[in-house]
Amino acid sequence: MKLLKRIGLLLLLLAIAIQFVPVNRTNPALDPNQDYLKVSAAPAEVARLLKASCYDCHSNESKYPWYAYVAPVSFLVQNHIQEGRSKVNFSTWGNSSAHDQSEALEEIPETIAEGEMPLWDYNLMHPEAKLSEAEKGTLIDWFNQGGNSAEKSISKRENEYEGEHDED
Ligand code: HEC
Repeated sequence: MKLLKRIGLLLLLLAIAIQFVPVNRTNPALDPNQDYLKVSAAPAEVARLLKASCYDCHSNESKYPWYAYVAPVSFLVQNHIQEGRSKVNFSTWGNSSAHDQSEALEEIPETIAEGEMPLWDYNLMHPEAKLSEAEKGTLIDWFNQGGNSAEKSISKRENEYEGEHDED
């Protein structure tokens, strides 16, 4: 019993100690002109869905819920955001290479169709971000049609992408 008490106390101290591990929750500065939704002139419904379901991890506009301040959950949230941004960052879309853009445009509808994104544990805490079948359809259709209604940048992107392919 004495040992159990000691272990309990140790765990409690550990739980308190990890609260002091620094977690960076500052969002990088935003350049609205580079945002995917602006660059692609996405329709309002697409914009609403991406903001509600993807922007917390795939943009520099992450919103941190209260539990994002409590370790060890804060480590998990931070990890999701870092990894998410490294794969696709809608905030810096205009600055990313034509190759990265093409790759993302191809992968995004796949991850939605397969129910991989948003991540299941995120959906658990954000039921409002869970996509209905109709909402998935709206996003998938948009991305399968190229994910861009600013036509000029579409043809530019395709040309650049072809150029890169020739070298493969
Ligand atoms: C809770 C954070 C979170 C949310 C919300 C989220 N993602 Fe992700 N996403 C990640 C993480 C972490 C990864 C990298 C690990 C992985 O692929 O599972 C990722 C990877 C991806 C990838 C790359 C897949 C690959 O195979 O490399 C795409 C595309 C993607 N997400 C699209 C989306 C879209 C679209 C949404 C909204 C419908 C979304 N994500 C919502 C965290 C998130």
